[in-house]
Amino acid sequence: MRGYGRERQHRDREWVPRRIRDDWKGQLGVRYEVLECIGEGTYGQVFRARRSSDGEIVALKRIHLQESLVSSSALSENSAVVDEISALLELDHPNVVKLLEYFEHNSAVVLVFEFLATNLAEVIKRGQEPLDEADVKGWMVQILCGLAACHDAAIIHRDLKPANLLISKGGVLKLGDFGLARVCKDGERVEFTHMLATRWYRAPELLYGARECGKGVDIWAVGCIFAELLARAPLFPGDCEIDQLSRVVKMMGIADESNWPGVSDLPDFGKILFSPPEIIPLERALPNASEGAIRLLKKMLVYSPESRVSAAEALQDEYFLTAPLPKPAADLWIPPITPQKGTTRGEGNTRHQWRATHC
Ligand SMILES: Nc1ncnc2c1ncn2[C@@H]1O[C@H](COP(=O)(O)OP(=O)(O)O)[C@@H](O)[C@H]1O
Ligand SMILES: [Mg+2]
Repeated sequence: MRGYGRERQHRDREWVPRRIRDDWKGQLGVRYEVLECIGEGTYGQVFRARRSSDGEIVALKRIHLQESLVSSSALSENSAVVDEISALLELDHPNVVKLLEYFEHNSAVVLVFEFLATNLAEVIKRGQEPLDEADVKGWMVQILCGLAACHDAAIIHRDLKPANLLISKGGVLKLGDFGLARVCKDGERVEFTHMLATRWYRAPELLYGARECGKGVDIWAVGCIFAELLARAPLFPGDCEIDQLSRVVKMMGIADESNWPGVSDLPDFGKILFSPPEIIPLERALPNASEGAIRLLKKMLVYSPESRVSAAEALQDEYFLTAPLPKPAADLWIPPITPQKGTTRGEGNTRHQWRATHC
């Protein structure tokens, strides 16, 4: 069993689902009507479906269990599933996606979520150029509220990026995809073996091979997302780990003990040497950003993870208190939602088969 699993057993609450509910085995077709496949990712597929009891549209995320664990349902060993479920059960916040229920189905675990029509990657891709500052603030406030709730519950998300920030028809943004989330009690740092989080949003300590991480990795990612909202283009679109790091160095200078105490202890520090770059400061990279935006961004994109602003502190920043004020969710621009299959009657023959292996 992995370290964090042991750690969780010491918590007051029994919150690790040791066995997935199996009383619904074979009940999928009865409880949910699968309409179409809407996403395919690291661990499985996501389907849009209709709940039979009340017609509510939901998202079903099917995660394949590791072969060796299927028979025993030894979920405490099946880390990705357990981590995602555990994190979500711990959280009940308007800016965090709601897990409605979960069950086992044919060697997979199915997580049932509220259905969210779009995500922040779509807003960035399809929105006007540049986005209104009041819109940027409206999205940022929601991201930070969701993240403050996670961090308050000692959960590190570890894979924040625009595509994982889901948005409802009413403009409410919700942190989604907790497949890499980990629990981290105050002052503790979480150990991990593999770094799977998306490269463009990956904090420099991870790029230097850190084997443990804290809440600062989420703040770095939020800084990258903030810059992407301002520029409508990714801030550090590295095409490999070294390119990723060199893009960060170009903006922030070479990391050393003076600007990042402890950096020389990181496993890969010294393995990659950079010649002094011509620095392109944030102001130049984001010429349309206001002074207030740059000031807050500079509190997030700090080399030393301990020195990064917290989500709760960022929410108190002057940036959100000065005009233009953050737009309320209902007024935020979101891409037009196209009518979807299965929302009217008579489309039975276009529906996806649950057993489809690919989208
Ligand atoms: N609750 C949801 N409502 C609507 N679409 C969703 C929902 N959850 C996930 N999706 C879609 O499925 C995709 C993959 O889901 P995600 O949870 O991010 O899993 P992965 O670990 O595979 O990236 C998302 O990018 C999104 O397009
Ligand atoms: Mg995802």
